[in-house]
Order: sequence, then C-alpha cells, then structure tokens
Amino acid sequence: MTAKRYIAKVPSNIALIKYWGKREKQWPANDSLSMTLTSSQTVTIASRLKSSSFEVFVGKHQLFPTDPFAKKIFSHLKFLATNLDFADGLRIETSNTFPASCGIASSASGMGALTLAAIAAWEDQCESPLSLQKLAHLARMGSGSACRSLLGGFVAWNAGDHPSLQSIEQVAKAEHWPLADLIVVTSAKAKSTSSSAGHETANTSPLFAIRTAGIHERMRIAREAIAARDLSTLGPLMETDALDMHAVMMTSKPALNYFTEATVAVLQWIRDQRKAGTLEAYFTVDAGPNPHILCRLEDAQKISALIHEAFPHFEILNDQVGTGPTIDSEVTA
Ligand code: PMV
Repeated sequence: MTAKRYIAKVPSNIALIKYWGKREKQWPANDSLSMTLTSSQTVTIASRLKSSSFEVFVGKHQLFPTDPFAKKIFSHLKFLATNLDFADGLRIETSNTFPASCGIASSASGMGALTLAAIAAWEDQCESPLSLQKLAHLARMGSGSACRSLLGGFVAWNAGDHPSLQSIEQVAKAEHWPLADLIVVTSAKAKSTSSSAGHETANTSPLFAIRTAGIHERMRIAREAIAARDLSTLGPLMETDALDMHAVMMTSKPALNYFTEATVAVLQWIRDQRKAGTLEAYFTVDAGPNPHILCRLEDAQKISALIHEAFPHFEILNDQVGTGPTIDSEVTA
C-alpha cells in the first residue's frame, strides 16, 4: 500500500518590533514586525490516517495529549479539523533544526509547519486553495507569531481595530535587504514560563500601556528603515523595543525574567564593541535567554568569529533573512 506524505518546512522568525500581550484570544495588544529566517526551521510531515485520531511524533518519540508539551499540538490539530471541517485523523512527524522553547521562536515555526502540513494532507495537495492570509490566520490561532513565519522577508502583523481586521503583510522581500541573524545559544534549556503564559500577565505591568502606546510610531520608523536599508536606525530601535518588552515582563505580576548573566554579558559586549567601532551589529532578545545579533550579511562571518572569540562556550547559529515556507509531497511504499 502506498501513502502520501506532505512535508512543510517553515522557518522561524525574529521579531524586530515585538508582540507582547493580547487584547483577547490571539488578538495582539500591538502591531509587530519580524524577519523570517532561513536555517532555523521546523520540518513537519503529515499523512492521512484511516482512523479519526491524531498520532504525533517528535523524531521517533510519540507524544500523547496528556504530555504538557504536546497539548498545544493536539488542540491546534483539533481546532484546524473543526474549523475547516476535516474528519480524517493524521500522522504527524515533526522536528526542529534548532533548540526549541528557548527564545528562538520554535512555536512560530512549529505551529506554522503544523498548519501547512496538516491542511495539505487533508486537502491532498501542496497548493492550498485557501489564501495565504487565511492560512496565516489559522496558524496564528496555534501561536500568534506563527502567522509571520508564513511569509518571507520582513513581515508585519497589524492588529487592526477589531480581531477580524488583523492582517499579515510582507513589508519587504528577503532579497531587498540581506541581513544576518547570529543566534548566541547561551542556554538550550527549555524555558520554564511559556510566552503564552507571559502574554496573559503582560497588562499587569505599569509599563505595558506606555509600551503599547508607542508601538505605532516604532512601526512607522521600522518600516522606513527597512525600505531605506538603514541599519543604524533599525538597530537601536530594535534594541529599545526588546529591552522595553523585557522591562514589561520583569514588572508584570508575577514577574517574568528570561535574562541570565550570560544574556546581559552578550548584550553589553555588543554595545561595547559598537562603541569601540569594532563592528556594526545590534541585538534583540525574544522570550528566552538567547540574544539574536543582527548585522549585514557581508559582515556576518567576521562578527560571528568575534562573538565566538569573546564567548567560546556558546554555540552560534548563523542564520539570515529567508524567503519563507516550502511544501512538498512524496509517495512512500
Ligand atoms: O507567538 P508567541 O505566543 O510564542 O509569542 C511570541 C512572543 C515573542 O517571541 C517574545 C515576540 C514576537 O513577536 O515574536
């Protein structure tokens, strides 16, 4: 008997202007803007089953709905099946090319890949009749930032004035501006508080309203800086936005802190080197301890070597802006 498998490869994305906090279920408190990556990706393979159940594997390891890590995967599959009216069960095999749950946006690539692979298997075709907007909105229901991973290059997620007015928009293609993202893996340990839990308490911070009020202007400057390929404007803006999001986290109730001594040391080192004129690179940090260092692609090798020299114990993932997801099928015997 032959079986058809659908393989979705969805890259992670790094937010330059961060989404933090929700107005209501999967409706973000603020607009956000990210760069889709290339090498850090989730590969998810889906095939239809005769039964109506879901079987989920990470590598060879089978996950069950009671497993806290797997809960989100099973509930997203159920959500997709109900929303799109598909009755068949699926076998899902998923893996990441990078460490998960430590601030490299594995939920973005993971939920993006799950959405694309599952829908392709149900529809039995790679090219979905659903629009990219619709697919992105479905992915968003699994993890907000996943909607941005469905497009390549630089991507905005606009919150709109109503949940139904949210939109996902490619601000610039990957080819427009070849930027590198050097991810310094200070720790590959999974974080103890998920970003989903963090979004829930964001509005308890006295800094939350100040942050969200300023995002509109930040988005405007970021869009202009991307259009002009202006790193010396985008970089400091991106650093401020990341630190401002972490300040919200640290002043929320309960307080949330993803920074470690190593995170702070890398951020300080980047600023010191920049001041000394050694390099032009800027940092951002997602919900985890691992700094992302953005620089021009032509400078990436040199800067990666300098980071390695200063922090020889940390692995560096050399990534860059990418063109977005791919989906293929194969027939197995
Ligand atoms: O998509 P979530 O629920 O994992 O939240 C993502 C939050 C950040 O990564 C910290 C910021 C962002 O915009 O990606």
